Amino acid sequence: MSFNIKNNVYWVGKIDWELERFHGYEYSTHRGSTYNSYLIREEKTALIDTIWGPYSKEFVENLAKETDLGKIDYVIANHAEPDHSGALPELMRHIPDTPIYCTKNGLKSLKGQYHQDWNFNVVKTGDTLSLGNKDLVFVEMAMLHWPDSMLCYLTGDNLLFSNDAFGHHYASELMYNDLVDQAELYAECIKYYANILTPFSPMATKKIKEVLSLNLPLDMICPSHGMIWRDHPEQIVEQYLKWADNYQENQITVIYDTMWNGTRKVAECIAKGIRESDKEVNVKLLHLEKRDKNDVITEIFKSKGIIVGSPTVNRGILTSVAAILELIKGLKFRKKKAAAFGCYGWSGESAKIISDSLESSGFEMVDDVLKVNWNPDDDSMEKCIAYGKEFAENSA
Ligand code: FEO
Repeated sequence: MSFNIKNNVYWVGKIDWELERFHGYEYSTHRGSTYNSYLIREEKTALIDTIWGPYSKEFVENLAKETDLGKIDYVIANHAEPDHSGALPELMRHIPDTPIYCTKNGLKSLKGQYHQDWNFNVVKTGDTLSLGNKDLVFVEMAMLHWPDSMLCYLTGDNLLFSNDAFGHHYASELMYNDLVDQAELYAECIKYYANILTPFSPMATKKIKEVLSLNLPLDMICPSHGMIWRDHPEQIVEQYLKWADNYQENQITVIYDTMWNGTRKVAECIAKGIRESDKEVNVKLLHLEKRDKNDVITEIFKSKGIIVGSPTVNRGILTSVAAILELIKGLKFRKKKAAAFGCYGWSGESAKIISDSLESSGFEMVDDVLKVNWNPDDDSMEKCIAYGKEFAENSA
């Protein structure tokens, strides 16, 4: 499958309807994904990125139907992660001498992964590659989201090939942002930002401003995953600037796991207290055993405050809670408030462990931890409700 995007530019990627997990088990893809590769056929022919390795044979076969492979003058590797470079070995088997353009770090990464001495050409910000009447302009995008990332811009057609930036894991044959369900598209974009780009927000702001300062006319943004932004492409750029700026909504999220329902009862009472506060805050209650971890991270991203709970087990916390705390640690959320709670029978370390973890991850702890011995009785449930109310007040 291929289709024409504009003039001599074609999408030659792969729609992966079956993808359920990405980055190993780290990222859930409820709506599949796409690996977008683009073929530009001007006086010179350039291929921008390839696709994930398992689909490399069909990718190269399809590409060969679109163009004589020997007529590809340049391969652009905007990013060396295997979902975009995975088909390079199969492609380069057919065109071993064709030059590959990448950043200095891209060279390291491609060599480290494939151990091939291909015809690499290192580019940096501002370098251009002439395709005849139009040029490709390169901009390094280090840490958006890997050190090797870059984007390129096609003059004349005003297309920005942004690689992972502005992407989303969303499979659709419709391929354009204006043709798909807008709520689904937004949900996948914010999930992608929250789970992948949050730690790099300061760099995202700086880089986006740098690209905007170039004042390049922009007709479409062509990312490497998901829909092509042809309708108001600037909307996703503006959204990124908002998300990168310590984004939060008027939401508090209570996150917990439970063994015998004691911690669940505490969580529900805390949520009740938040609801009963006069702050009119949206409260969400997420039981980790029943929720997708990436969806939980997205809710944390949207929250101004979180309250996390686990019962004490073996002087520690439940593994589901430990796992989400580990994810939280890597994502470097900023300007969010937090508190911790947990039921216990004997030793009762859980709430302190959670609190310490959240504090070291950059959260502002606003209340002492809430510990409830055994199952909560009426008195302790009232205390939990009051705790929720106080948290809502302190998070206003
Ligand atoms: Fe879509 Fe960083 O790879």
